Amino acid sequence: MARGDGPGRDQPYTERETVEPPDWFVEQANVSDPTVYDRFEREWPDCWRDAAELLDWETPFETVFRGTDGPPFEWFPGGRLNAAYNCIDRHLPERKNQLALVWEGHLGESRTYTYLELYREVNAFAAALRERGVGPDDVVTLYLPMVPELPVAMLACARLGVQHNVVFAGFSADALATRMERAESAYLITCDGYYRRGSAVAQKNKADNARIAVDHDVSVVVLDRLGRDVHLGDDYDDYHDLLAAHKGAEIEPAPRAADDPLFRIYTSGTTGQPKAVTHTTGGYLAHVAWTARSVLDIKPEDTYWCSADIGWITGHSYIVYGPLALGTTTVLYNGTADHPEKDRLWELIEKYAVDVFYTAPTAVRAFMKWGKQYPQQHDLSSLRLLGTVGEPMDARAWEWYREHIGGGECPVVDTWWQTETGAILVSTLPGVDEMKPGAAGTPLPGIEASVVDRSGTAVEANTAGELVVTRPWPGMPHALLDGTDWGSVPDSAEEWRYYPEDSVSADEDGYITFLGRIDDAINVAGRRFSTKELESTVSGVDGVAEAAVVGANDERTGTAVYTFASPEDGYGESELRDAIEEAVVDAIGGIARPKEIVFTPDLPKTRSGKVMRRLLTAVANDEDLGDTSALRNPEILGEIQSTTSRE
Ligand code: PRX
Repeated sequence: MARGDGPGRDQPYTERETVEPPDWFVEQANVSDPTVYDRFEREWPDCWRDAAELLDWETPFETVFRGTDGPPFEWFPGGRLNAAYNCIDRHLPERKNQLALVWEGHLGESRTYTYLELYREVNAFAAALRERGVGPDDVVTLYLPMVPELPVAMLACARLGVQHNVVFAGFSADALATRMERAESAYLITCDGYYRRGSAVAQKNKADNARIAVDHDVSVVVLDRLGRDVHLGDDYDDYHDLLAAHKGAEIEPAPRAADDPLFRIYTSGTTGQPKAVTHTTGGYLAHVAWTARSVLDIKPEDTYWCSADIGWITGHSYIVYGPLALGTTTVLYNGTADHPEKDRLWELIEKYAVDVFYTAPTAVRAFMKWGKQYPQQHDLSSLRLLGTVGEPMDARAWEWYREHIGGGECPVVDTWWQTETGAILVSTLPGVDEMKPGAAGTPLPGIEASVVDRSGTAVEANTAGELVVTRPWPGMPHALLDGTDWGSVPDSAEEWRYYPEDSVSADEDGYITFLGRIDDAINVAGRRFSTKELESTVSGVDGVAEAAVVGANDERTGTAVYTFASPEDGYGESELRDAIEEAVVDAIGGIARPKEIVFTPDLPKTRSGKVMRRLLTAVANDEDLGDTSALRNPEILGEIQSTTSRE
């Protein structure tokens, strides 16, 4: 049965509790055998051999998992491999002329790389990095927008066996400097600028400022994107000059132990400072390849598009490493969904005949708001599977996505994971499981998780609690492998627990609905920020006596940043408002700009002086305040409510 013959449009999903994957999908799915769950349960941890076997190992691993006594855990110990070899070289005999990357840039500009072309550029750039002095313990920071040179540079690092440290291009100079400083990174790859919504955005000056701010010397490579003849000083190299100088070079892929670091990435932790998450070469790559194959159903002959930015973990795992490990064609887009028109993404899906499309719920909510007329202008019949990641996907958006983008038939996978997990842990397998709009799905085969209350006791079905992952998984990062994220190290793997800090409930079938974060992280449009980091930035502004930051519901971005600040005497609100915005943009970047800045003479506090953020969240959400008896200054709430307008 082909797509188009299925039950599809005549049955509205709103009338069904569950949605079955159509037969035409199941028939061709990479994983369609429902016994996979039982087999992975029975054979754990050996089941994960399936994932490792998707890769080529230079030295075979001795065993799948070691660590019965609790951390340190080892996945695939004894095995050696190279990630760039797995993502490029091994595909050459069969598909050297197949496209590896398709890049679509500014206003119709596009470029493609076959696997052979990618091989050549990665080798030349790896040779250039080596000649610049990059050695085994170095960390190379990549501060680039969505251009093909970003995955090229990542893979060049992987080829040399050195860690990359990708910093989202929209982050500020300060945010870049903090991440370079913490990583002790002496190498930086950036560009002069890039285009956004038709205008050039400067990048190099932010990189220059960061370079000045870090304590150590930094050697910089600059990619010319704008063609404006930027003057490069000492210790700066031009990307294309380096490529030309190393044209034809071949670099042996460095064999890496399975748990050698592949890269680090910073994310918002529970403190005000960004936290480094370091992923491994073997376990991570095996896990992303396995999930790209079983959840995203990627096949080598597909054209696959994940519209995330490589600056976040989603782009690392599911634009670069997962898809390329499987030898598919992965699309990179440097642009926005509504420029030049709101049909831009659908135009690209039609142009490249994309098979699988993976995006964020925030994007889907925007598409829904813009209206179905935009996707209707295009032939989207190439699509076979849709996915979402990064934040809760509500049933209405899920149904709209499937109906108007997926032609009423494509399965939709809502995938839950984190920077820390490296790869998807909770979803449906689209060739096996029925889908429940609004719930992400169950833990994947080989993953064990449950819902517990604060004391760690399992809660009943349909009751909110906290997610806990109760078994190690191959894509776990270094901190979890060696137990350094643990207050106390458990004696056995059975007692080991990982708390992702997500509030959830699970139904009778074990389908998990994600309700939001339980720590101080705010998830704005699928991007994670720390309220502590924002608060310390806002409190640092001259004239701000005290500040609190909370996340409040937002129709567009899921959650939005609300800032409550009490001014010092003599400071005007409008000047402070500008200063706060500027401070946030400088410290983090425009992406964290507060939606609302509310001025108040005081913050609601308990008698011991603790700010009650729960009440501020309720004010921002225009919700009932509940019990306010713990407050020392209850009168302040009325004042704050009257200044916080919510339409
Ligand atoms: O709260 C969860 C939310 O995003 C957090 C992880 O953020 P980050 O490390 O930036 O990674 C985002 C991309 C993997 C999670 O703790 N989250 C992620 N996926 C989902 C989600 N919330 C609900 N549903 C999801 N599918």
